Order: sequence, then C-alpha cells, then structure tokens
Amino acid sequence: MIIVTGATGLLGRQIVERLLTRVPAGQVGVSVRDPRRAQDLADQGVRVRQGSFTDAAGLAHAFEGASQVLIVSVDKMGEECVEQHRTAIEGAVAAGARRILYTSQMGASASSRFQACRDHADTEEALRACGVPFTSLRNGFYARSAAHFLVPAVDSGRITLPADGPVAWTAHADLAEAAAAILADEGRFEGPTPPLTGGQALTFDNIADVATEVTGRTMTRTTVPDGAFREQLAGQGVPAEAAEQLLGIFAAARAGEFATVDPTLSALLGRAPITLREVLREQLPRA
Ligand SMILES: NC(=O)c1ccc[n+]([C@@H]2O[C@H](COP(=O)([O-])OP(=O)(O)OC[C@H]3O[C@@H](n4cnc5c(N)ncnc54)[C@H](OP(=O)(O)O)[C@@H]3O)[C@@H](O)[C@H]2O)c1
Repeated sequence: MIIVTGATGLLGRQIVERLLTRVPAGQVGVSVRDPRRAQDLADQGVRVRQGSFTDAAGLAHAFEGASQVLIVSVDKMGEECVEQHRTAIEGAVAAGARRILYTSQMGASASSRFQACRDHADTEEALRACGVPFTSLRNGFYARSAAHFLVPAVDSGRITLPADGPVAWTAHADLAEAAAAILADEGRFEGPTPPLTGGQALTFDNIADVATEVTGRTMTRTTVPDGAFREQLAGQGVPAEAAEQLLGIFAAARAGEFATVDPTLSALLGRAPITLREVLREQLPRA
C-alpha cells in the first residue's frame, strides 16, 4: 500500500487525487492528523488512519502495511520540523516500507540562506542514514507563495519587498501530478530528484508586469532594504523569527538558490508546466 501523509493539506490532497487516477483506491492509504477531514477519501475506498509526526506509536498504525510512504514536509521550520520528519522516517522504516519519499525543495542545502532549505537538507541526511531507499522530491518554489506576497499590492498597487532574484515558480497541481507519477512508478528516481520546476525563472520586477496584466490594476515594484522590511514586519506583529525566515527567502533568491529551470517536471507531466501567470490568474482578484 502507498501511504501519503499530509493528505488534508494543499499539496498532499492533490497528490492523493492524482494518485487515484493511476492506482486502485484499495492500494492507497493516507496518514492524517484529523481523519474527519479525509472522509471523502474514505468514501472513495482510500484507507484513512490518524497519524501525527509528534506521535511515533500512532504512526505505527497509520503506516501499517506500507510499501512506500510519501512524507509531506510539515508547515514549520527549524529543529522542531526536522525532529518531526525524523519521527516520520523512523515510522516508515519500522513499518517495513521499501521506499520513502519526501517533499524537499529545489534549494535544499546545509548552506542555504533560507531556514526551510537547511531543514530539508537535514531531513535528506536522515533519509540517507535510514537504510531504506528514498526519493527526495526537490520541488520548485510554490507559485502560490508569489501570489501570497502580492496580496497587499492588490489594494495598494505597490509591491514593497526586499531585493530578490529569479525564482522558478512552480504550481502545486504540477508538483502533485509529478509526485503521483513517481509513486506509481516505484524507484524511478533514487535519492534527490533534479529540481522539479516551472518553465521560467521570474523576479518580482517581472511579476509586477504579470500581476498588472492579470488583475487589471497597475502594480509597481519597490525594493526596500532588509532592515526596513524587518521593521515593517515587526510593526505588523510578525515575530522576529518568522521575519528572519521571510528575509531568508529573499537572500536565497538573490543568491540564485531558486533560479534553475529544469526540464524534468515537464518530462514527467508530458506537457509544459503551469505558468505563474495562470496561478496568479486563479489566486488574485481582478480589479
Ligand atoms: N516548495 C516550496 O516552495 C514550499 C513552500 C511552502 C511550503 N513548502 C512545504 O511543502 C509542504 C506542503 O505544502 P502545502 O501547501 O500542502 O502546505 P499545507 O497545506 O500547510 O500542508 C501541510 C501539511 O502538513 C501536515 N502536518 C503538519 N504538522 C504535522 C505533523 N506534526 N504530523 C503530520 N502532518 C503534519 C498538515 O496537516 P493538517 O492538514 O492536519 O494541518 C498539512 O496536511 C509544507 O508543509 C512545507 O513544508 C514548500
């Protein structure tokens, strides 16, 4: 049985939906924190069990009978996040999985300027050490994150952010389709995949033009120094640690950590990836 965690989250949910087009529902299980939120999957014949990466004993039940376990990374950063991933990896090993898959990020590196990418590198180390074959899905930067950064600009028309660099923005739907294809073709990738990215790397200068066209509202990009951005976030009540994590995204982008455009995702999909323009059209309201 293929077990997918995080199936009540945005990416995990779409991975399961795409997997069900390739594999009979009876061969798919999900490990979720709140099974009530996966009732529709249970109704389709998917095995739904409760599992949290903070409860190793519960994971033994959730991962029972697993051939492959796809661990969707948690929505946290730092040691707590890596510790939860280690617990999930140990749970998959204990369940006897033949392969463990993990949603990493294209910038995963111990020397990344972005905390999440250092966490992904630490998790990949744990995967290398676990003794079970693994596939680390080096996902491109979510295009939804770009849309998120644009939310204040929808009202103000001003994209006020630190200096950035080109980012190969990638759609959840494409990453989900790729994960499902890789799960259904066990062992297609060994270790970290090539970066699974959209077809173009864009800066916020470029994005301002795209967002202007998509929303019908003129959006102007202004660069703020990191220190001023930090103060702005503090003024909005953003905790200092979260502010540093956000600044890390821009520092990493400036260093080119998310700039690579790679054809692997497109090859897996058998078509061009969804563009940032399409994601913004879906995510941003028109003026
Ligand atoms: N590639 C990128 O650019 C990028 C950008 C942002 C985030 N990410 C990573 O990609 C992941 C998936 O993205 P997403 O959009 O699907 O995020 P999401 O909707 O926030 O989903 C996160 C999932 O993690 C689950 N989770 C959190 N803590 C858990 C725990 N202790 N045990 C088991 N499951 C736990 C959540 O469970 P519930 O459904 O119960 O809340 C949720 O299903 C994120 O969590 C993050 O690690 C990647």
